[in-house]
Amino acid sequence: MIQPEGYVLGAAAAVGLAFKLKTRLQLSKAKHPSLRGHSRMARRVAAQVPFYEYDDAQIFRSDDAPDAIAARRRAGFMRLAAIYRDRFAQTARQTAEVEDAISDVQFTDTYRVPFQYSRFVRAHLKGGTFLRESSGVTVTDLDGNVFYDLTGSYGVNVFGYDFYKECMRAGAARVEALGPVLGAYHPVVASNVARLREISGQGEVSFHMSGTEAVMQAVRLARYHTRRSHLVRFCGAYHGWWGDVQPGIGNPSPAPETYTLKDMDDDSLRVLRSRRDIACVLVNPLQALHPNGNAPNDATLVDSGRGARYDRAAYTAWLEKLRAVCTERGIVLIFDEVFVGFRLARRGAQEYFGVEADMVTYGKTLGGGLPVGVLCGRKALMKRFRDDRPSDICFARGTFNAHPYVMGAMHEFLERLDRPEIRDLYPTLERVWNTRANALNERLAAEGLPVRVANLSSIWTVCYTQPSRYNWMLQYYLRAEGLALSWVGTGRFIFSLNYGDADFAAVADRFVAAARAMRDDGFWWSDAALTNKSIKRRILHEMVRARLA
Ligand SMILES: Cc1ncc(COP(=O)(O)O)c(C=O)c1O
Repeated sequence: MIQPEGYVLGAAAAVGLAFKLKTRLQLSKAKHPSLRGHSRMARRVAAQVPFYEYDDAQIFRSDDAPDAIAARRRAGFMRLAAIYRDRFAQTARQTAEVEDAISDVQFTDTYRVPFQYSRFVRAHLKGGTFLRESSGVTVTDLDGNVFYDLTGSYGVNVFGYDFYKECMRAGAARVEALGPVLGAYHPVVASNVARLREISGQGEVSFHMSGTEAVMQAVRLARYHTRRSHLVRFCGAYHGWWGDVQPGIGNPSPAPETYTLKDMDDDSLRVLRSRRDIACVLVNPLQALHPNGNAPNDATLVDSGRGARYDRAAYTAWLEKLRAVCTERGIVLIFDEVFVGFRLARRGAQEYFGVEADMVTYGKTLGGGLPVGVLCGRKALMKRFRDDRPSDICFARGTFNAHPYVMGAMHEFLERLDRPEIRDLYPTLERVWNTRANALNERLAAEGLPVRVANLSSIWTVCYTQPSRYNWMLQYYLRAEGLALSWVGTGRFIFSLNYGDADFAAVADRFVAAARAMRDDGFWWSDAALTNKSIKRRILHEMVRARLA
């Protein structure tokens, strides 16, 4: 006979199980339905994708374009190849000399376009990765070609290269007497800390060598103080290359203490409200431009599915909701402003969106041209030891943290931030860049070109309005027109704020000219059968065939 306690225990177990099931289902619901939202599965699928490539006969008709179009594309491509051979000879030669010995060059060179086309394109369109100088809004390669710079040096270049040269020069002069002494601080550290406390609105500061490390430290401290295990990141968001914030493709190990949740979605708030293992939520405000999307890269531009649309009011409302649930649940809200810090507003995303975080990471531009990562946080969260448990510490050191030269350049950066010519940039920033983006889009529409730009202030991405398998070619036409792009191609243009109207007008002219040339060469041919869906289906068939072969 079952004793009464047995019923009670059974009922308790059933309730426990039901609760567990509910939270598990809640978590599943809060995952984005794409592979990006399912890191483990994404890595498994990625491991199965076979290499195959188009041969000479297929390369210009992978969309079943008629022979005449394929011939036009080939002629256009070869004309472009001749321009590249002629114009970028020395830069390409020097790149070829080092490519075999620099892993980064091999990687970025290979992943500029979808892999099916990569070898063919690399064989003919050799641009090279060397530059010899920068000035104003331009960079110059080894052959003396001057390009308008749209790379923004991965976001470091907010105020123009000359600004940073000045920060580096003046900063070096300021700390020269101390030189490379580490461990002890140069006195400029004190003023840097005071300015950072004011800018971040946070009580304490720690210095690191990269944005990745600043993020690592923020998460480690959040785990230490909350005594909880998991971090939450939002689908698609980049926070550096540390394993825990990059749980999907690109990281050979799983990240079992990371939840990747849907951005801007109440299902995610429900998870934050119900789970007890969440230490922190990481927000990269750049995602406002493409919530739940990966950082756009032309290597994955297999069709015209890239989407981007920035809605400031909606993203602000989302951050406010996040702030409220984090406060309610004792979860540490971390703004990762490594990219957007100082670019959207003087006090960064916190000021721009009007939401205060518990911790903020900065990097890139803050080093005044030198490498850096900085974490600012509430005093209670930044503490690395417990007064009542002397052995329970949260360790973080780094040989080059607070290097005098970095601190010197940072001092100059922060000091210049308060000069009128820089302060005066911010109030009109968004209007200026939105106006420029709209004007370019109007021109593109007027010319019937199937390209548009979307922007978050000075950070832009290129979208394509009609199905095509060849959108990745645009980056090569743009380069031929004298526009320098980073290895992600048209995925990201990062403008420095010293772009005047005349500079921008020149960029817009070149952009339109490049798009026109690409259209005239037949790369945007399409017919009724060509849709983003049909392109994806075809690629899937090709992969299956290659896998079985
Ligand atoms: C939002 C964000 N966090 C972190 C990082 C990593 O910074 P770093 O490349 O300096 O390690 C980046 C770099 O692009 C970033 O954009």
